[in-house]
Amino acid sequence: MPETHDAAAARDRITELRSQVAHHNRLYHELDEPELPDADYDVLARELRALEAEFPELAAADSPAQTVGGAASATFAPVTHAEPMTSLDNAMDGDELRAWADRVVKGLGGVVPRFVAELKFDGLAMSLRYEHGELMQAATRGDGRVGEDVTANVATIEDVPKRLVGVAVPRIVEVRGEVYMPTAVFESLNEEYEAAGLRPLVNPRNAAAGSLRQKDPNMTAKRRLSFWAYQLGEVVGGPEFRSHQDSLDFIAGLGLPVNPEIRALDTIASVEEYCLFRQAHRHDLGYEIDGVVIKVDDLAQRELLGFTARAPRWAIAYKFPPEERTTLLRAIQVSVGRTGRTTPFAVLEPVFVGGSTVSMATLHNQDQVAFKDVRPGDTVTVRKAGDVIPEVVGPVLSLRPEGTEPWQFPTTCPCPLASTLVRLEGEADTRCVEPVCPFQRDQKIIYWASRGAMDIEGLGERTVVQLTGAELVRDAADIYSLTADQIEPLEGFARPSAEKLVASIQESTDRPLPKVLTALGIKHLGPSASLALAAEFGTLRRVMEATDDERSAVDGVGGVISAAIGRWYERPSNQDFIDRLEAAGVNFGSEAEAAAREAARAAIEQTLEGKAVVVTGTVPGYNREEAEQAIVARGGKSPGSVSKKTFALVVGDGAGASKLAKAETNGTPVVPAERFAELLTTGEIPS
Ligand code: IVH
Repeated sequence: MPETHDAAAARDRITELRSQVAHHNRLYHELDEPELPDADYDVLARELRALEAEFPELAAADSPAQTVGGAASATFAPVTHAEPMTSLDNAMDGDELRAWADRVVKGLGGVVPRFVAELKFDGLAMSLRYEHGELMQAATRGDGRVGEDVTANVATIEDVPKRLVGVAVPRIVEVRGEVYMPTAVFESLNEEYEAAGLRPLVNPRNAAAGSLRQKDPNMTAKRRLSFWAYQLGEVVGGPEFRSHQDSLDFIAGLGLPVNPEIRALDTIASVEEYCLFRQAHRHDLGYEIDGVVIKVDDLAQRELLGFTARAPRWAIAYKFPPEERTTLLRAIQVSVGRTGRTTPFAVLEPVFVGGSTVSMATLHNQDQVAFKDVRPGDTVTVRKAGDVIPEVVGPVLSLRPEGTEPWQFPTTCPCPLASTLVRLEGEADTRCVEPVCPFQRDQKIIYWASRGAMDIEGLGERTVVQLTGAELVRDAADIYSLTADQIEPLEGFARPSAEKLVASIQESTDRPLPKVLTALGIKHLGPSASLALAAEFGTLRRVMEATDDERSAVDGVGGVISAAIGRWYERPSNQDFIDRLEAAGVNFGSEAEAAAREAARAAIEQTLEGKAVVVTGTVPGYNREEAEQAIVARGGKSPGSVSKKTFALVVGDGAGASKLAKAETNGTPVVPAERFAELLTTGEIPS
């Protein structure tokens, strides 16, 4: 925030900020089309508020810094709230949270109150007004004083009771809470939109806002919104409450959904700890939250603390670090993967988002760049949520410089060979199909050494590029003949580190077969199919030499993967690669073990071929694993739950009630544990 003590400069800046904040307020609250991420808006609003505090003579009652939300629109009738719907002040970090707590304690004459911490739902504030237990009105917050009447739309939300229940229903009761769109609904709607070629919804909050603004309640109903209640408004003819917790219990008793994630906390240290815990687990819920709301529990203490012009002093919103920020898009480049697939990515002015500094973000593919129409020089929104890789959401069009042109996807590979890129019809990816592309070669080796594959410590991208650049290595098989003498002269290496790398390369020859299969980097062949293939065939050669049908019969493999393996193995260069890996001592699985396993399997009659047998409770003479193995050894499957496809349910002592109930509804035959052996030998339900 720029520090300014010059009144003239401050006046100019305040004018500029007011117009920006008002503009973004309108986009967010009235049009449901925010252009800036919340975090960027907050930066502007905070600067404005700070300046107005520093220069009180320049403050104005109608400043957008002093008001909440937006004006009511013309589509819905205005509703004056019986009690205003205020906003909350924000704490952006632990320091601001403690500063708030200090003010609270001071306001209470030194008493540390009990705090209640709730989730801060990222949806839309809503006030539900019930008269004599009937839902009479649902209103948005609007500017805090006057909102919009969206009763017909809110009445379609299943979570919102149309009639309250319980014995103590007040004559009038206003319940405030948040309307939101569950993440799963958001994702499934977006899949539908994408399939229909429609512009996707930006985020669940926006989607919820847009859904409530529908003129036709049937449209709102299709959006499957939900609701959490968190506060009482006007109450006439109801009980007296002493604490917030009491009032929430009361709200829940009326039949409204109150979120279970509520904590009563007695110290600010525990409040802070809880905020950090929630932050780390923010994506574990089925809905979006953007912070934690901390409230003073005791209502008499709240009375003492009162309100500022825009928010209560007895509550604060601890905001999580933003997952979206804007930054400058410096350039768009294209990377080439190990299969030749090209991925456009954004080179960014570094920005702190989602807990780390981001300077590159994916743009996925050609169509995505065209669709988003991001151009070098644009200010773009960057998103990084949880462990997900950072991505460019889109440009901020109002900040686009003049004279930019849509970005063109390159026609040639960025590698020194600059071979022509191809995009097959019906495919989203543009590929480099040059078999000797040096970028693909490097990526294949990097993948070979990566954690999920051969896990070779010290063999990362930088070293691989050096090794291929020095022509010491052409493919992954070559790394096994590297010597410390060859590695030592490379940049960043000395004798001990060179020896260490040779040792870790050698050590990788013992990796289990599934890892070796994965490391080959065959298109479509990932870790789980590798695991299944290794378990079925026992050796790398057997996997490669099996027929397509044999491979695709393996559970979790299928035709696409099987055919890809077949095509890969057909190529002489790949066979040569395999031969050299074998010669280097890489584990290909034991032929003797595989043969023994096959013989054992052949000896056991496959009585349960293709049949699913579920076991519940104890089977005399077997532990759980042995019972399952006995089924699998006879060609059957032993899933953990009963479905319509289940052949039999074996029931022993301590059987699960839900499995039995499921079997009954599905008409699944039930076999007592004592007759398990009979089931195994005959493959029939014992009569
Ligand atoms: S209490 C007077 N509790 O956050 C206190 N608000 O930034 C009124 N919000 O307008 C609000 N979760 O839309 C409260 N557990 C929660 C909340 C919550 C989300 C929203 C609400 C409010 C905004 C303020």
